[in-house]
Amino acid sequence: MAEDNSNLIHVYLDDQEEPIVSYRPPVRFELDTTQLEDGPHTLKVVATDATGHKGVRTIPFEVRNGPGIDVEGLQDNDTLDGKVPILLNAYGGAKEPYWEPSRAETPAPVPTWAWVLLLVVVAWSTFYIAQQWNAPDEFANSPTYSLFYGDQATPQPSGEVAPRSKANIGATLYRTSCSSCHQNNGEGVAGAFPPLAGDPVVTDEDPTRHIEIILFGMQGEPIDGVEYSAAMPPFSEQLSDQEVAAIVNHERTSWGNDAPTVTAEQVQKVRAEGTSN
Ligand code: HEC
Repeated sequence: MAEDNSNLIHVYLDDQEEPIVSYRPPVRFELDTTQLEDGPHTLKVVATDATGHKGVRTIPFEVRNGPGIDVEGLQDNDTLDGKVPILLNAYGGAKEPYWEPSRAETPAPVPTWAWVLLLVVVAWSTFYIAQQWNAPDEFANSPTYSLFYGDQATPQPSGEVAPRSKANIGATLYRTSCSSCHQNNGEGVAGAFPPLAGDPVVTDEDPTRHIEIILFGMQGEPIDGVEYSAAMPPFSEQLSDQEVAAIVNHERTSWGNDAPTVTAEQVQKVRAEGTSN
């Protein structure tokens, strides 16, 4: 029996004389706080070794099985005068069967900074949507935006193709078919490819020659006194009348050029007449 009593752990609660449990270590046990009153308690653990020496450890703790209490409008040691509105809330007793979040959240006004943040976000998104509504040229013919603008074949309510859409397609086609030689800025490459910015053919009131060159190409004709050894390839096979018109109009209204624009019918006529040279 003496050996039994050594090497034992006794657990005492508060000032009770009798241990609530006695075990041989190590031990894992459950303390049922629902049997205790809410408030401060102490747990005392006493261990005895084989030689009879005792180790004692006291742990103070607090039990709270009742609902939590929230107070708005009054803090510890506040100095008050007049009438003071106070908001009380109680939530989540450990024995409650259901957890009701609405009761745990004490109603409080939305802070000003949250309103400001919301306004900023709304304003920015409005600005962003408004800005994206008119697609930048570069993306105007991407699948995303062509949903909105359609391609050239999409008739507008008036029966005409929207000018904006035309300009976008012209710019895109120019980029894919022409800019490798004449450059995106229309400046060409000195001695190799002529500039189209300020070019007499491109800015001519009569667009016939302009259309002809794109449809049927051009070779060995000096422009502005410069002979170009490369040839301007013909595009009549690759481009439709509408596409040629779009490119012509892009060239006639870009890089400072400001010449009359053309229709697909004009291109079709030039195409039907064939090259004049
Ligand atoms: C492979 C290079 C190349 C490509 C691609 C090209 N061009 Fe040219 N382009 C030239 C050259 C070179 C000349 C000059 C030919 C000459 O002087 O005989 C020229 C001349 C022209 C001219 C006549 C300028 C003038 O003053 O007579 C126009 C207009 C023109 N190109 C428009 C276009 C358009 C529009 C496209 C796209 C559909 C295009 N070019 C694609 C090389 C190119």
